[in-house]
Amino acid sequence: MSKNINYIKRESWGSSFGFIMAAAGSAVGLGNIWKFPYVAGENGGAVFLFIYLICALLLGFTVMLSEHALGRYSQKNAVGTFKEIAPGKKWWLIGAIGVLASFIILSFYSVVAGWTLAYVFKSLTGSLSGIPLTEYSSFFTSFISNPLEPIFWQSLFMVLTIFIVTLGIQSGIEKWSKVLMPALFAILILIIVRSLTLEGAMDGVKFFLSPDFSKINSKVILSALGQAFFSLSLGVGAMITYGSYLNKESHIPSDAFKIIILGVLVAVLAGLAIFPAVFATGMSPDGGPGLIFMILPAVFSKMPFGNFFEIIFFILLSIAALTSAISLLEVLVAFIKDKFNWSRKKATLISGFCAFIWGVPSSLSQGIWNKITFTLPGQDPMIFFDVMDFFTSNILMPIGGICVCVFTAYIWKTKNATWELSNQGKYTFAWLGFWSFLVKYIAPLVIFLVLLQGLGIL
Ligand code: PHE
Repeated sequence: MSKNINYIKRESWGSSFGFIMAAAGSAVGLGNIWKFPYVAGENGGAVFLFIYLICALLLGFTVMLSEHALGRYSQKNAVGTFKEIAPGKKWWLIGAIGVLASFIILSFYSVVAGWTLAYVFKSLTGSLSGIPLTEYSSFFTSFISNPLEPIFWQSLFMVLTIFIVTLGIQSGIEKWSKVLMPALFAILILIIVRSLTLEGAMDGVKFFLSPDFSKINSKVILSALGQAFFSLSLGVGAMITYGSYLNKESHIPSDAFKIIILGVLVAVLAGLAIFPAVFATGMSPDGGPGLIFMILPAVFSKMPFGNFFEIIFFILLSIAALTSAISLLEVLVAFIKDKFNWSRKKATLISGFCAFIWGVPSSLSQGIWNKITFTLPGQDPMIFFDVMDFFTSNILMPIGGICVCVFTAYIWKTKNATWELSNQGKYTFAWLGFWSFLVKYIAPLVIFLVLLQGLGIL
């Protein structure tokens, strides 16, 4: 009997700690640890960090509150939420954009996540040591351009992701996040201690923490905002979906605040782990997307106990990627399960497999298909991988973010959203008025500017 009731009842988080770990796990990912340091490195270091923090705390928080409130109110998947609140209207398309974006992000995200798994293996077997310093770049390029090896690692990563998501919310996503996230923090702290105790580390800390405000320009501001958005998993329905598993007693504003703080903290800690090591070994901080795969192994090879730290660093990165990929897959699974009435297992296996297949050209475009390029209006020719990244990060995510704000503010109405956020008036937050102002006017406008910049118009 009780089994039956469980079966029809919608799944939910077991505890607020579990929800925070899962949502912070979604936020903390390759975006914080792989992308943040190199984008910061290219955009003046500390200034970028400073603006990123403001964007995450003000705008990221605004959108995250909206997404959690929408999800918890409707108790539906990303598409169902909009149908529930605005029945018979086309607003569900916002959710559909999110589902599409999650699918595409998962497809290329799993490629990079596969590289991190491969690097765990390569550092374990010692094949990353003994390479001349200048050869790390070509080692990485020849690995990612190999047609089969990266696809093998990508598929392994997808198997892990699918495995956890098939187990469901409490016994899969929540249970694993509760173990993996604290592990990630512990590893990160260990690496920071190592990095900060290297001779010459302080130059890296300075680069990362003391801002030179003369370096601020519109590109830095808008990249910081785009980065805040991606790294907090906003605009793709992930936070709506996770919010929909919240029970009515949960305290959305304080949970969301903790999630933002954790997300931001990991980005800052990742910078503190990476820049001091890069500076101490005389490398350059603006190494681009290869910073982690090409420069760090070189840094580790020069460091006492470098191999040990290298292994745990790539484990850390794989964990971060895994908990984010899980949330991307859950957006698809929640939608498909409800829409087609499929079991969780069937929905997970099929959507995960499709995302993997769609990711294969992204992987191949790093090597044998790198001559096939696509030229979008106003952009340089791009390989398939970059097209997928560009389309989601620069187009779908900002559109999703703007639409969430507009929908919350003008369709659902901030009055109703505030009612949900305050647990039907049970709690009062003086600043919910400020939140309403941000969600109505500031957030949509600023995200619109990011969209224009991402499209190369600004
Ligand atoms: N926030 C994740 C990261 O920083 C990426 C992500 C985006 C995950 C959107 C889920 C949804 O890597």
